[in-house]
Amino acid sequence: MTWTPNSWRSRPAKHIPEDYPDLDALAAVETRLAASPPLVFAGEVDRLKTRLASVAAGEAFLLQGGDCAESFKEFNADNIRDTLRVLLQMAVVLTYGASKPVVKVGRLAGQFGKPRSSPVETKDGVTLPSYRGDNINGMDFTPESRIPNPDRLMRSYSQSASTLNLVRAFSQGGYAGLDNVHSWMLGFVDRSPLGEKYGEMADKITDALNFMRACGITPQNVPQMAQVEVYTSHEALLLGYEEAMTRRDEASGTGDWYDTSAHMLWIGHRTRQVDHAHVEFCKGIRNPIGMKCGPGLEPDELLRIIETLNPTDEAGRITLISRFGADGVGEGLPRLARAVKESGRTVVWSCDPMHGNTTTMNGYKTRPVDNILAEVRGFIDVLNAENCIPGGVHFEMTGQNVTECIGGAQAISEADLSSRYHTHCDPRLNGEQALELAFLIADKLLEIKDTSTMPKRAAG
Ligand code: PEP
Ligand code: CO
Repeated sequence: MTWTPNSWRSRPAKHIPEDYPDLDALAAVETRLAASPPLVFAGEVDRLKTRLASVAAGEAFLLQGGDCAESFKEFNADNIRDTLRVLLQMAVVLTYGASKPVVKVGRLAGQFGKPRSSPVETKDGVTLPSYRGDNINGMDFTPESRIPNPDRLMRSYSQSASTLNLVRAFSQGGYAGLDNVHSWMLGFVDRSPLGEKYGEMADKITDALNFMRACGITPQNVPQMAQVEVYTSHEALLLGYEEAMTRRDEASGTGDWYDTSAHMLWIGHRTRQVDHAHVEFCKGIRNPIGMKCGPGLEPDELLRIIETLNPTDEAGRITLISRFGADGVGEGLPRLARAVKESGRTVVWSCDPMHGNTTTMNGYKTRPVDNILAEVRGFIDVLNAENCIPGGVHFEMTGQNVTECIGGAQAISEADLSSRYHTHCDPRLNGEQALELAFLIADKLLEIKDTSTMPKRAAG
């Protein structure tokens, strides 16, 4: 069967709503979307793939992060700026820890639709369809709000366009220059109750920057110090939307298909069946594809999915995102890593330490920061032991001072959860927790091997 942007429609599809009351209205919105401008360009998508190929080769590190679910309510310039600021600070710290360039990919500008564990939600004896993300239905617990409304797709498209516009302005306009990011990072270290612990690494970064400046490497003459590359990503869940955003690249003359809704798309834990719609759709687009790997995924199934998505073994095309939980990573990941290694396939291994570490406390979904860190450490240890490369991390985080994950230097407790719990879906790391984790992961990266690319003084 030949691939087309709509060939997924003849496959079984999980987690795509079928209960739109007016299917003609949905089709009309999809037609409008198909005629709307692309959000990203093929050249940018190809460049991200090249960057990810470097990650696969162990020459760069991937940092992917942002909201679990973007929302219409939390959409404003300050929120976008703050998330980006934290992401960039984390990237500086990880650049130091890994001694490698960090490829920065936001979970933003399109991360709306959510697969839900249960199709219904019950509160005080009333059962309604679950909230599925702002691009599908509303979070209010009323029957009207939970009806899927296609107008929400158009609104999420335009919010994504505005978000991306702001990200481009921040990252290219000088605001995100290395000097600024560095001074924000120092501000964090000064404020943090564990500032002492991070101070030493922060000072080393400062020394490195001073040395570079003394050598004449400044934002004025080296563009990498004044600007950053930030890419976008989201779960390719709502395939009607993704299909509408998929265009042929006429410019290059290859006629290849690109999903122009984001630079990178990923396939979720619940929709990765090799013969189903989501894998079918992702197969035909040229974008880098992520895939969540968690409990229940068998090595042979993983290899079949990789073969389907990347038959030519193109480097940078596949990022495998491990999400077993702190308790599961030691058992679940080695067999997958070994199978991929033995197959000779080129992949990036990244760690999502969020989705396998969710528990409920006081009626709130939460994640202990300690478990998040433990999973990243476990991930690095497993891949090292299997002679594979721990290539990156994937976080749900925000720049806001929310209280959704427990622990961290601020010691957010179970009782604190209710004070600033704003997420529309899963609990996110707040800005300080995210940056603390970056320091601790950088420490771990420094510890596992000598990452220095420069000759060193002989020991003793
Ligand atoms: C997510 O990344 O928001 C998500 C739902 O993850 P997973 O598919 O791994 O459960
Ligand atoms: Co989530």
